[in-house]
Amino acid sequence: MSTQRTHAVTLLAGDGIGPEVTEATVRVLAAAGVAIEWDRVEAGGDVVAKYGTPVPESALQSIRRRGLALKGPITTPVGEGFRSANVTLRQNLDLYACLRPVKSIPGLPTRFEGVDLIIVRENTEDLYSGLEHRVCPGVVESIKVITERACLRIAKFAFRMALQRGRKKITAVHKANIMKLSDGLFLECCRRIARDHRDIEYGEVIVDNCAMQLVRDPTQFDVLLLENLYGDILSDLCAGLVGGLGVVPGANIGDEVAVFEAVHGSAPDIAGKRLANPTALILSAVEMLHHVGESEAGERIERAVHAVLGEPQLRTRDLGGKATTDEFTESVIERLG
Ligand code: NAI
Ligand code: MG
Repeated sequence: MSTQRTHAVTLLAGDGIGPEVTEATVRVLAAAGVAIEWDRVEAGGDVVAKYGTPVPESALQSIRRRGLALKGPITTPVGEGFRSANVTLRQNLDLYACLRPVKSIPGLPTRFEGVDLIIVRENTEDLYSGLEHRVCPGVVESIKVITERACLRIAKFAFRMALQRGRKKITAVHKANIMKLSDGLFLECCRRIARDHRDIEYGEVIVDNCAMQLVRDPTQFDVLLLENLYGDILSDLCAGLVGGLGVVPGANIGDEVAVFEAVHGSAPDIAGKRLANPTALILSAVEMLHHVGESEAGERIERAVHAVLGEPQLRTRDLGGKATTDEFTESVIERLG
């Protein structure tokens, strides 16, 4: 059984399918006997009118105080409107490392078998700087910001994580043939940290070739180390290799705080229909349990999720099944053992 410790965790339900998948995850954690005291806070598009921002200071404070949060997806308006709540959170809490384990799920057949890679994405800068302006009518600039400080710390994070998790090889993904200064600096920092870790193999690949290599043979990669935008794009690609966005978990990690969330977004096309696959957020919570030393409960939940995914008729619609979010959740709870 799990330890008797109660964990204080901030819960951001998000919007779209967020409330459905967070509710499912909270139920699974409770059924697994993990003692969590949730602080439910408001964030997202719905609160902009009330607070003038999608991420009110009260939400940030709750997360800072607890050091831990579980988060559902939050919609970001396209082309106009408020700044992404997700980017705001990551930058305000300095959640500089985004970690996404992409693993084939036993019993869930997909195009590839034996995929087991980890994406490490820099989470605070790059083209996500939000620095955009109109130079003159018909001409705009978006500024890609790359700093030595952020590159060094994400590279250090990747090598440290690789050592902790027994990974053998790190591949830095870049476009330094074109962006010689920005991606050049990123590579220079990765190489510097690689020199301090001779026990881990280090390689580099240009991002477009990386995309091709991933869809041809993803098993050739171990840890992928990327800047923010390439990390975002290749995360979704990698999710597609192992069953889609419904199954890939993630974590945003800083020195003081960690926020666990799936790779996927708010899925407006299926929101409110009880069709969402909660696997990705449940597995994000499993990552959270490992993070707080509740690995036994985490492994038990993961085994239950895999057992359900192994039965075609119990899967949700994104995986070809017919189960609703609630039915899937019930099946997981029944198999917790
Ligand atoms: P999305 O990830 O929400 O959806 C892409 C496709 O995958 C849709 O067809 C959706 O139905 C499906 N899908 C995603 N998660 C699923 C799940 N758990 N179960 C079953 N099917 C699932 O990406 P999209 O449509 O590009 O973005 C929608 C909104 O989400 C946008 O406003 C975007 O900014 C936001 N977003 C938020 C993120 C976050 O909060 N961390 C991350 C990514 C996007
Ligand atoms: Mg994304």
